[in-house]
Amino acid sequence: MGAYKAAIAGLLLRLCHGCTNLIVSPGASADGSTLFSYTADSGSLYGTLGHYPAGKHQPGEKRQIWDWDSGKYLGEIDEVPYTYNVIGNLNEHGLAIGETTFGGNETLHGGTGVMDYGNLIWITLQRSKTAREAILTFDQLVKEYGYVSEGESFTIADPHEVWILEMIGKGHVEKGAVWVAVRVPDGHVSGHANQARIQQFPLHDADHCVYSSDVISFAEKVGLWDPQRPQEEFSFADTYDPISFTGARLSDARVWSFLSAVAADRSFEKSYESYVLGHNVSARARMPLSIPSGVKISQVDLMSHMRNHYEGTALDSRYDVGAGDSSSPFRVRPLVWSDGDQQYVHERNVGTQQAGWNFVAQLRSWLPGPIGGILWFGVDDASFSVHAPFHGGNTRVPRSYADGVGDALHYSQDSAFWAFNTVANFLYPRWFAAEEVMASARKAEETFVQQLRAEELAAGALYKTNPAKAIELLTARDASRANQVVKDEFALFGQLMVTHRDGFHISSLGPHAPNHGGAQGGVVPKVEEVGYSTKWYDRIVKDTGDHYKMSTSPTSPLDAAKLRTLSKGTWVDSSTHEVIV
Ligand SMILES: *[C@@H]1O[C@H](CO)[C@@H](O)[C@H](O)[C@H]1NC(C)=O
Ligand SMILES: *[C@@H]1O[C@H](CO)[C@@H](O)[C@H](O)[C@H]1NC(C)=O
Repeated sequence: MGAYKAAIAGLLLRLCHGCTNLIVSPGASADGSTLFSYTADSGSLYGTLGHYPAGKHQPGEKRQIWDWDSGKYLGEIDEVPYTYNVIGNLNEHGLAIGETTFGGNETLHGGTGVMDYGNLIWITLQRSKTAREAILTFDQLVKEYGYVSEGESFTIADPHEVWILEMIGKGHVEKGAVWVAVRVPDGHVSGHANQARIQQFPLHDADHCVYSSDVISFAEKVGLWDPQRPQEEFSFADTYDPISFTGARLSDARVWSFLSAVAADRSFEKSYESYVLGHNVSARARMPLSIPSGVKISQVDLMSHMRNHYEGTALDSRYDVGAGDSSSPFRVRPLVWSDGDQQYVHERNVGTQQAGWNFVAQLRSWLPGPIGGILWFGVDDASFSVHAPFHGGNTRVPRSYADGVGDALHYSQDSAFWAFNTVANFLYPRWFAAEEVMASARKAEETFVQQLRAEELAAGALYKTNPAKAIELLTARDASRANQVVKDEFALFGQLMVTHRDGFHISSLGPHAPNHGGAQGGVVPKVEEVGYSTKWYDRIVKDTGDHYKMSTSPTSPLDAAKLRTLSKGTWVDSSTHEVIV
């Protein structure tokens, strides 16, 4: 997401967004599809699934452009004769586009024109069939209509290849933008997360790298490049978005955690540890744009990589006092905080609370376009999202995922966004229950993979004679499955509430549990006191000294009797399974 400016009560509010894209080339994926993930992270974003139906347009027809983040009217552009069907960030030809905002040199923000990064994505998806076509469309759109957003890294993927395109505007110097696009080599993995990643790039290898003709000369023009230097040394990232502590620790570190997990080179994680910690911030210390994968990654694996909170790495934040008593990687914002005159950060995880929506795009070359592309779409924090599949040819969006069912200020039990927020917000301070929820999300996603086999087989056969009917079949299945995901999520919340209510662990005493009937409160449950870890008690004592100290033993007769009274309802006789008191 890009930072945006919104005028509220006469004040200019600047809301900074951050996102993550993790990229798997076809040669690194389990089934030969192109995969990439995208989390759209912004505290103000209410996550819904967008839909642009395919359309025919009259000559002279115009299209109005509203800034995707702020809704501000920017102007109008010429419509094209035919626009393709788009579901979320995927179109009916299996083209998918994601982005993360790197910002970059602030003198190059706020250019003139009408194209913001959101419209650039969705208009390109409506007009292009392949990644290469999309790159040309990007170039044509920003040349003709200008570029008004901050610096962006885009993932542009089709069933055969995946490219990273990095773009920054020209501020008030000129209309348009400068950019470089690099193809991720087959068999490689990559990613970007709010930090420009393309450093040096091949100047004469159009099959693997294309760039705007003025990407170097414009830098020279604004004094960011010395023309005496050999052009081969020109680095897009180090010129337009130089690396910083936050660029390494809060941005590139997210890419590092994914690459470390799958790298063929098992020393990758350690090699860049000091860099991502922010201890060695320099252009020379940066990670390569992409690396060979040591494993074949499935779509479901990539969904799990979005549930990353640096577990087991040098950036694991589950064991300090900020983690609370349940060892949670969740931290309330802001990311940067002060103590005395020192500044500190919280880690910025891939799976993060302020996500509005997130997805894995799976692009398969062996199926017809409208069936071959799947958007595995989830809302809110990717840690707990259950990703429901939507095909690129789908002609409608299910109600729970559509706009207009609740919003950021109105809770709704029909809304996917609120279902997943309800569970996630229950889990943040109760991380002991998080692992089980993440595992069950993965299990549901694996079930969907199984369901799709039969559904796509049927749709594929039908497609040969009646494409519209095949697409309707998939649309209907995808929609009813996704609506069910939302019902299941609220049911999961109910179950979590029953089990973890009031800091207890609550379960059944078994088939012979005492039951006083409805009028007397019903069944008697087994209510266990779970307490805190030894480490947490140590901390309390360190903090409070003798303040809570008992002066007698809890087993002394008077104390023992009193404690039984004080623990009403929670003490269970192990021989009779009767609740005592
Ligand atoms: C940003 O670009 C301007 C030229 O447009 C340059 O003078 C300035 O030093 C750059 N800032 C950074 C932080 O690189
Ligand atoms: C810092 O990065 C440089 C350049 O890659 C490298 O030579 C050096 O070993 C790194 N230092 C540490 C402490 O990792």
